[in-house]
Amino acid sequence: MCGIVAAAAGKNIVPVLVEGLKKLEYRGYDSAGLAVIAGNGIERVRSVGRVAELEAASADTQAATGIAHTRWATHGVPCERNAHPHVSGSIAVVHNGIIENYESLRNELTAQGYVFTSDTDTESIAHLVQATLKTEPDLLKAVQIACQRLVGAFAIAVIDHNQPGKVIVAREGSPLLLGVSDSGNYAASDASALLQVTRNMVYLENGDIAELTAAKVRITRLDGTPVQRPVHVSQLSAAAVELGNYQHYMQKEIFEQPEALANTLEIVGGSKTIQPGIFGAEAGNLLADVDAILILACGTSSHSGFTARYWLERIAGVPCNVEIASEYRYRTSVPNPRQLIVAISQSGETADTLAALRHAKSLGQTKTLAICNVPESAIVRECALRFITRAGPEIGVASTKAFTTQLAALFLLTLVAAKVKGRLSEEQEATYIHQLRHLPVAVNKVLELEDEIKAWAQRFADKHHALFLGRGRHYPIAMEGALKLKEISYIHAEAYPAGELKHGPLALVDADMPVISIAPNDQLLDKLKSNLKEVQARGGELYVFADADSEIPESDGVHILRLPEHYGELSPILHVIPLQLLSYHVALVKGTDVDKPRNLAKSVTVE
Ligand code: F6R
Repeated sequence: MCGIVAAAAGKNIVPVLVEGLKKLEYRGYDSAGLAVIAGNGIERVRSVGRVAELEAASADTQAATGIAHTRWATHGVPCERNAHPHVSGSIAVVHNGIIENYESLRNELTAQGYVFTSDTDTESIAHLVQATLKTEPDLLKAVQIACQRLVGAFAIAVIDHNQPGKVIVAREGSPLLLGVSDSGNYAASDASALLQVTRNMVYLENGDIAELTAAKVRITRLDGTPVQRPVHVSQLSAAAVELGNYQHYMQKEIFEQPEALANTLEIVGGSKTIQPGIFGAEAGNLLADVDAILILACGTSSHSGFTARYWLERIAGVPCNVEIASEYRYRTSVPNPRQLIVAISQSGETADTLAALRHAKSLGQTKTLAICNVPESAIVRECALRFITRAGPEIGVASTKAFTTQLAALFLLTLVAAKVKGRLSEEQEATYIHQLRHLPVAVNKVLELEDEIKAWAQRFADKHHALFLGRGRHYPIAMEGALKLKEISYIHAEAYPAGELKHGPLALVDADMPVISIAPNDQLLDKLKSNLKEVQARGGELYVFADADSEIPESDGVHILRLPEHYGELSPILHVIPLQLLSYHVALVKGTDVDKPRNLAKSVTVE
């Protein structure tokens, strides 16, 4: 998704803008640009490709006020002409989001004589602000008026070379925060871009607009009413977003999972019991009245939900459904006010998940829980209950540590729900907590399998398709494995519950189709073994992730990798790790851009 950085300071801010954009690279982008107020007007530099190219192109630029942007194409192909900032006369604008009424604005402004040079929706904002300045010369007020004409989701930053030293920023639907300090004031799409200059962050609300100068920040609503927003001291560690010794963020994040899980589970402390309060003060009362659970999420986050469904129904006995957020939000469904709505999201800003949550609430389903990695995000703010996964910033587009920490959070929810429903004995509770606490160590041991997985990865490089099989609570793990492989190695991959094989997909199996199977030693293992025989009989090459005690012998065309520990209910958390490593190493062999796969964005803040 697009990223914004803006600055007004008493020093040259070009290095701050460029550094900020580098920190936002993980969101996904195809072009970048910046505009500053220079001595004789707006100076703009844009480039297609990486921020490093923009950095080189702007090496001689210096200014105390400016805006910068990474663009992820929505309206118009990625090219320099469509890259932000967009300029109209004295002003320049960067924008994140989508302006739905841009065509009518474009027609109106074209009729007034404004000439459009890009295919973007953003350019209409630039001309609209310029047109408004004719009757309202104050930039803050002109942007306020212009924003009221915009339909859609946006975060914008605007500068005017006739009003130097000033940046106006506004948000309605897309994320934007301010970084405030004695030596200057800043704005960005997320805090990681501003940690280089300050930890003091002000989160703008939808409908807020702010004027930043080096000395001051003034925030109002779009109708001009002044508002105060609190300053939060960001706890984000600057080191957490550095690559350190790793080659890629995805690799770093896979290896951070033991720590991420330990941090997430710290909330349980040394106790042998779990209290509902870990989901919020109201959780005990609220959960006692819950008769069903509906999980809403997208992508990888939905896979954690699909896994949890097995836990919630088996251990807690609570009926559970999982819906893809983009489907649920437009579906006519039957609401149940006693149903707990669980929104799962790494970023907490995913447009479809947020809209699905709002839709669920609009149907009178107000018992809501956010499971999220970003405490200040919209999804967290809009839920009655919350559980913050403490995975730390996830930069790689392919989600890894966010997924396993979501699973840990969902297992805690299962235990709390089971307890509230009187379905968990003290002994069972203590055993599960013990297993949870041991997870970081168990994950570490799985990570030691990397070399063997690396060797397997070589054999996938020339493949065009792959099939992932799992059963029961490991079927969603097969789905996650297939998603990881396709998104970063571009190998077409599909997941099936192994029992479905002979109902269609078996027709695809031949020597060119690797079949990856998750085969823990559980009650479905014997059934799975028969499914694997079906593959073997068709000459398919099998790659099996088994447990130490799964009795599956290695043979011609059957490659086995055994996980060190058998982990019962929590086994999905261990079994997804080798699948993450496999995708990572296949992508390395294929030479794809692991952290920024083509066409994908980290935080999908548009529909
Ligand atoms: C895949 C991936 C995406 C996200 C999805 C939801 O690796 O990262 O499928 O899981 O876009 O994002 P969040 O969790 O931020 O709502």
